[in-house]
Amino acid sequence: MGTITISAIKADVGGWVGHSDIHPDLLSEAKRRLSEAVESDLLIDAHADSCGDDVNLVMTHRLGVDAEAIHHFAWDSFVSMTEIAKRLHLYGAGQDLLADAFSGNVRGAGPGVAEMEIEERTSEPFIVFAADKCAPGAWNFPLYKIFCDPFNTAGLIIDPKAHGGFALEVHDLIEHRRIRFECPEDLYDLLVYIGTPSRFVIKHVFRRDMQDEPVASTSTSRLSLIAGKYVGKDDPIMVVRAQSGLPAVGEVLEPFANPHLVAGWMRGSHNGPLMPCALGDSTPARFDGPPRVVGMGFQLADGKLHGPRDLLGDVSFDRARRQALELADYMRRMGPFEPGRLPMEEMEYTTMPAVAERLDERWEPIEEPATPVPA
Ligand code: 13P
Ligand code: 13P
Ligand code: MG
Ligand code: MG
Repeated sequence: MGTITISAIKADVGGWVGHSDIHPDLLSEAKRRLSEAVESDLLIDAHADSCGDDVNLVMTHRLGVDAEAIHHFAWDSFVSMTEIAKRLHLYGAGQDLLADAFSGNVRGAGPGVAEMEIEERTSEPFIVFAADKCAPGAWNFPLYKIFCDPFNTAGLIIDPKAHGGFALEVHDLIEHRRIRFECPEDLYDLLVYIGTPSRFVIKHVFRRDMQDEPVASTSTSRLSLIAGKYVGKDDPIMVVRAQSGLPAVGEVLEPFANPHLVAGWMRGSHNGPLMPCALGDSTPARFDGPPRVVGMGFQLADGKLHGPRDLLGDVSFDRARRQALELADYMRRMGPFEPGRLPMEEMEYTTMPAVAERLDERWEPIEEPATPVPA
């Protein structure tokens, strides 16, 4: 039946209220446009959802990754949602549409994109994760756990098909270059980079004995690097396939039982725990957070989406939620001090440099005492 492409594309086109949620009218518009696109056969199937103030479009089609028709459709959908957001005076209407007009691809224009072209397996379970109030490096930690850590993924030891390991493609968001690590052999080298998630992010994961078919893909756009200023956090999305030689659904979910610290939260400028939550609870409030992640599980059947199942809403993540809230208390007590607040270089794209500039003239050089000459 040929290959199927899964495209998960997201954008913040206006928050309700502040940056806490999306207005139901925006979601209705997204759903209306998606069903039109399914009727016109541009898409095989589609689902719209939200995480915090970000709208997520999950689409299946036959046009491959980076297809102009799909990206154009997503862009136009975000534009028409932005018009509604403007009418309702929603906060930051059109926030993520950084380009003036569509020019062939939404990558680099603001929205986040995670896509993969696959041969649909006999049974094809996959999960779309979406996060709010954090940067794309937020996926580094869970992806490492899922595909590289046998303490997380028993299948790496037990399942002969997973035992061969995975290859991870890492992007350097500053130097615009990429590198591929073959794991487990390259584990230590991989960790040299992905431990700095503000710069190095895992873009794709491949199973080496599956003709290098992608098994996970993430969005990597960093809005501040595109815009040169703070325009909200990137709030990334990712797609992960599961089972039959890949990590099981429960192994893919397991890292989210440990709410790791991510960069984002209030004004995109603070470290906070990534709290797994149910789709209906992805409405950041306290200090505009804490950062949230939702997991939408789908079974694919001839390109049709059966789902989502609200996987991170399950009771087995209740303790993680409680722990995240305790960590949020602790991190909040740091106030404006690092590492509660992000390091200086990360603040470069916020409004903080403007405050510092006002104080330039008040800084005075320190006269060093004459250095004694050694005898
Ligand atoms: P598969 O190897 O069929 O994916 O089964 C593993 C499993 O589901 C364990 O939870
Ligand atoms: P978003 O990136 O989700 O729009 O949040 C921006 C912000 O400043 C939250 O305090
Ligand atoms: Mg916002
Ligand atoms: Mg957001």
